[in-house]
Amino acid sequence: MMDRRGAAHHRSRFLFFPQIILMPQTSSRSAWTSRLGFILASAGSAVGLGAIWKFPYMAGTNGGSIFMLPTIAFSLTIGLALLIAEMSMGRAARGGAGTAYLKLGGRAWSVIGFISVATGALVLAFYSVVGGWCTHYFIESIMGRGITDDPAAMRSAFEAFAADPVQSVMGHVIFLTTTAGVVLCGVERGIERVGKILMPLLFILMLILIVRGLMLPGAIEGVKFLFMPDPEAFTGEALLNAMGFAFFSLSVGSGSMMNYGRLSDKVNVGTPTAWIVVLAVMSSILGGLMIMPAVFAFGLTPDAGPGLTFATMPAVFSHLPMGGLFAVAFYGCLFVAALTSAISILEMVSQHCVDRWGFTRRTAVLTVSTVLGIIGVFCALSFGPLSDWKLFGRTLFDLLDYATSNIGMPIGCVGIGLVAAWVA
Ligand code: ALA
Repeated sequence: MMDRRGAAHHRSRFLFFPQIILMPQTSSRSAWTSRLGFILASAGSAVGLGAIWKFPYMAGTNGGSIFMLPTIAFSLTIGLALLIAEMSMGRAARGGAGTAYLKLGGRAWSVIGFISVATGALVLAFYSVVGGWCTHYFIESIMGRGITDDPAAMRSAFEAFAADPVQSVMGHVIFLTTTAGVVLCGVERGIERVGKILMPLLFILMLILIVRGLMLPGAIEGVKFLFMPDPEAFTGEALLNAMGFAFFSLSVGSGSMMNYGRLSDKVNVGTPTAWIVVLAVMSSILGGLMIMPAVFAFGLTPDAGPGLTFATMPAVFSHLPMGGLFAVAFYGCLFVAALTSAISILEMVSQHCVDRWGFTRRTAVLTVSTVLGIIGVFCALSFGPLSDWKLFGRTLFDLLDYATSNIGMPIGCVGIGLVAAWVA
């Protein structure tokens, strides 16, 4: 029996995720539809900038294959197991991280729930800056700009853009405002529908870009860098980063997936979750194959940091017939992929404020977006005026990028393991 408070929670969740709840789940056809809806919505949340922006630069700074191979291993083993446990916790508690830890583990465990939600929130703060980069490159490509095959010009164009406080902050603000606008107007369903078309298109575009990149002289060195194990290059730091990246790309331990799990009432979460993991791993491999061969072919350095993808793609486009059109399609799809991930995080954090602190939905979305918007401005400035502001040797952007994946999400994952064991 559901009490009145439970019923109210239930109703508010119906409003947050109409795309799944409104689907009848009685006939086998609709149950299949619901399962597919569940996979696509969760995959849309998990697969985003992680594969195309973060994976290539992390592989580039962590020794290539010695980062890539453990990332795949972590994702397919502990990542999958933890994601199933996270989804199951959400389903069992019918709640997001804040509620699920409290209901299933008890009051002491809600601290872990809070850490997970805070981790997700901090991810959004810097994710939105990279979303702003996508926005900028998308607009530039529409204007017919930003395509060159001069490596030095590509890199300095990215660095000049990222260091420019007006342009980088504006990109971040446009991206976060779009995310908040979608959530506030309740048009997530529409965006997810668009995402369902654009995600496969993004995969197709990536395959074409990979094939073109592999045909460039010297590209094979990039493939070797990614796939040929080099035990000499192995470091503990690379292993930790591989684990952190696996968690980041699956969005495990940061609250978002618990939110999806709570909606999976009649869906067995095991197989859909395996699909999500396979899609996320495939996207990262494609992301690596799209960037790294081109990096080597154009004589760029793989350890260039967070700007690697954006400094490399203009050259790949310049080697394609109708490269300008490709650029528009690619950045457009990437923008939507980033948007669906950002929406799911903002939904999750806002829902936490509604569930646990009694905010109205509107106030929650506005407050969360404003606070994260301000933190994001400082992250955006990390590449320009605040590049000397460092804590533990990292700029604010790098610190949040590192700490969310390597500290916050692992804490969330340990919590998931312990609470799942406790409840079982
Ligand atoms: N898992 C999300 C991504 O990879 C955050 O973009």
